[in-house]
Amino acid sequence: MVWRVIIGTFSVVLTMVVFGFVAVTEQDRMASFERAYNSRTIEAGAALFQNNCVSCHGDQGQGGAGPALNAVDLFNGVRLKEIGWQGTLEAYLRGAINAGRPRASAAFQNDPQRMPAWGQANGGPLRSDQVESLVAYIMNWSEAFKDASGKIPTATATPNPNAVGSDINVELPAGDAANGQLLATAKGCTSCHVAAAPGASLVGPAWMADQSPDGKGVGTHATERPATAEYTGKAASPEQYLLESIIQPSAFIVPGGTTYGVNGQSTMPAVYPQQLEKQEVADIIAYLLTLH
Ligand code: HEC
Ligand code: HEC
Repeated sequence: MVWRVIIGTFSVVLTMVVFGFVAVTEQDRMASFERAYNSRTIEAGAALFQNNCVSCHGDQGQGGAGPALNAVDLFNGVRLKEIGWQGTLEAYLRGAINAGRPRASAAFQNDPQRMPAWGQANGGPLRSDQVESLVAYIMNWSEAFKDASGKIPTATATPNPNAVGSDINVELPAGDAANGQLLATAKGCTSCHVAAAPGASLVGPAWMADQSPDGKGVGTHATERPATAEYTGKAASPEQYLLESIIQPSAFIVPGGTTYGVNGQSTMPAVYPQQLEKQEVADIIAYLLTLH
């Protein structure tokens, strides 16, 4: 009888302790559950991004044939303002991924590759939970742009004093071809200029001799094109021809490609004068000159 009382009392106390513990830790558990859930969603998004998006947006979201998504102006509202979007960024991303971007924004109006529709409701391959994972993955990039107070600076960055600019008479330092080769991939150039598989079609002129219809590489073209009758640019040397191609792509549009330009506007993005530094352009030019 005494034992039953003791055991009974003990189990009541034990139950209270357990419940009390659960109640106290419930919030923590919810938070860590949410964290685990979010990180699984982001991981799923990362895998979907690698499989479907890197060919145009770059493997780190740095951009290529499509705009950079891992970019401060996407997260601080500057880009949404340009487009005239009133809603949240998540809603914009969800809409862009689901339905594509049928009306290309000004910077991409000549881009032959449009943002495809990915949502099943729009005839694409992805379920809505997969689109949500992609939204979570892209939103996660915003973390890197937050300052100490958790805000993303909106002031447009002061122009980089080392940016190459758009004057083809700019003085460039000596270039490092090996670094230029790495930059050509990191900056997304190769997505338009180097075929990933033999015979794959390219948006821009082939850099590699064995992918080029005339069997010549871009280094040789840089010497030969300025001497042709069609040449409309102002370059006086192969180096300057390459510089002009990068910072003033519309000064001369390479003839012969249906995807090279529209109405005198080159398809090559006009972003490099600000995006690339003098040293980076010098390195890329040194690399391109090795491709004969
Ligand atoms: C065939 C190339 C291509 C592929 C593949 C592609 N995109 Fe795009 N994407 C574009 C282009 C081009 C734009 C810019 C359209 C415009 O002018 O607004 C764009 C725009 C976007 C935008 C809007 C960005 C902005 O700044 O307005 C988002 C978000 C986006 N893409 C996400 C994705 C995701 C996620 C995937 C993979 C599921 C993907 N894209 C696959 C070409 C592509
Ligand atoms: C969206 C696709 C695209 C990207 C990305 C791109 N280009 Fe181009 N590029 C083109 C097109 C199209 C042309 C041909 C039209 C013209 O002459 O401007 C071209 C032309 C060139 C030429 C002249 C080639 C020749 O045979 O005479 C050079 C050099 C060049 N690009 C370098 C670069 C470099 C360096 C980068 C990266 C910093 C880059 N491109 C990124 C599309 C692209």
